[in-house]
Amino acid sequence: MARDLVVIGLGYVGLPLAQEAARSGLSVTGFDVSERVVEGLRSGRSHVDDLSDGDIADMLAAGFEATTDPSVMAGADAIVICVPTPLTPEGGPDLGPVLGATRAIATHLRPGHLIVLESTTYPGTTDDEVRPILEAGGLVAGRDFHLAFSPERIDPGNPTFGMRNTPKVVGGHTPNCTEAAAAFYGRFVDTVVRARGTREAEMAKLLENTYRHINIALVNEMARFCHELGIDLWDVIAAARSKPFGFQAFYPGPGVGGHCIPIDPNYLSYQVQAKLGYPFRFVELAQEINAGMPAYVVRRIQDILNEQGEALRGAKVLLLGVTYKPDIADQRESPAKPIAQELIDKGVDVTFHDPHVRTWHLGGASLDAVPDLDDAIDGADVCVLLQNHAAYDIDALSRRASRFFDTRGVTTDDKAVRL
Ligand SMILES: NC(=O)c1ccc[n+]([C@@H]2O[C@H](COP(=O)([O-])OP(=O)(O)OC[C@H]3O[C@@H](n4cnc5c(N)ncnc54)[C@H](O)[C@@H]3O)[C@@H](O)[C@H]2O)c1
Repeated sequence: MARDLVVIGLGYVGLPLAQEAARSGLSVTGFDVSERVVEGLRSGRSHVDDLSDGDIADMLAAGFEATTDPSVMAGADAIVICVPTPLTPEGGPDLGPVLGATRAIATHLRPGHLIVLESTTYPGTTDDEVRPILEAGGLVAGRDFHLAFSPERIDPGNPTFGMRNTPKVVGGHTPNCTEAAAAFYGRFVDTVVRARGTREAEMAKLLENTYRHINIALVNEMARFCHELGIDLWDVIAAARSKPFGFQAFYPGPGVGGHCIPIDPNYLSYQVQAKLGYPFRFVELAQEINAGMPAYVVRRIQDILNEQGEALRGAKVLLLGVTYKPDIADQRESPAKPIAQELIDKGVDVTFHDPHVRTWHLGGASLDAVPDLDDAIDGADVCVLLQNHAAYDIDALSRRASRFFDTRGVTTDDKAVRL
């Protein structure tokens, strides 16, 4: 069946793309290797935070179909790859899903196709890895089909910026490929920004995320010594933020989480090291500082108990908010995990509460959320705010707790200890 678009990979990135395209009148099919994901969508269930079951129902009503059958690609005008790009156990890029999706496209590739890679990856992936697989059957990119990279910038849970009003960067294999991709996204995105080529578009995404990673590391490092110096870093940032130019505020926290910030800069540093033989020092330093924050949080919990002559071992610690960002359920790479793990290893009785998580999978074990938040606060030796969910009245929680450790700097209650 002829379709305007096939989206490959129906997760946090692919599903909002399919939604916006379907909403704008394009005929859209979603392809995923996971039967569970496809079955869920077919029966109207959303598995990502930004889309409700009602949104899926609207998409289905607009003609959206989900399938595990790769032959749908043959009938599409555009195919966009939104599969995961995780790290290997050794910390290098794992292009397995991208290459698997590309091989599936290659089997169905035909003249006139527009193929776009959106998965975050190192510069050169579209040209060096994806293009040869697609061209193996004899069709040539830029001549017989269009090939481009367009970084996904979605910010799950962001109420202001979504698919349509976040400018979309596109970089084609040739200028004509760029124009084909720009014309395609222009059908459902307000602003399209043309990059010089696929490598520039790939690198733009990594610059954005590396910039965040490094600036978060900067304030995390400052948080440690500001605490030692008795300086309130949140107050410092509020003052600095008043400068209307040349400064962007970043905030310290218990570590970095999510699928992008802790992972993407690794793609870049890996490639710099592998291709050029020298390290990307900023990324390595940021990695070291941010990765050290969970252990620092544990040490601060220990200090809070120690000041009153109590030990960490055997203490009851309640963790509040275990997702990687506020108001979503996504727990990927959340620093709450290493914090809980280290506390458990040190003999702490760990409990948790999160309005978005019922059961928390920690290594081999699973923890159920405390049934009653007030009771849990009353029973805890230390309450630790790890995620600032809107559902929390933080000052009220802090006032109720015997000891409240705020790793997000949001309490105004003097009794709370801030990171
Ligand atoms: N989540 C975000 O906020 C975000 C933001 C910007 C960029 N990205 C990037 O977008 C890409 C996708 O991330 P995500 O968060 O949507 O991942 P996800 O895990 O939410 O979803 C990926 C989907 O792809 C499917 N899949 C895996 N291999 C496949 C294959 N070979 N063929 C078809 N389907 C396959 C999986 O079953 C899954 O449903 C990654 O490169 C990520 O770095 C993510």
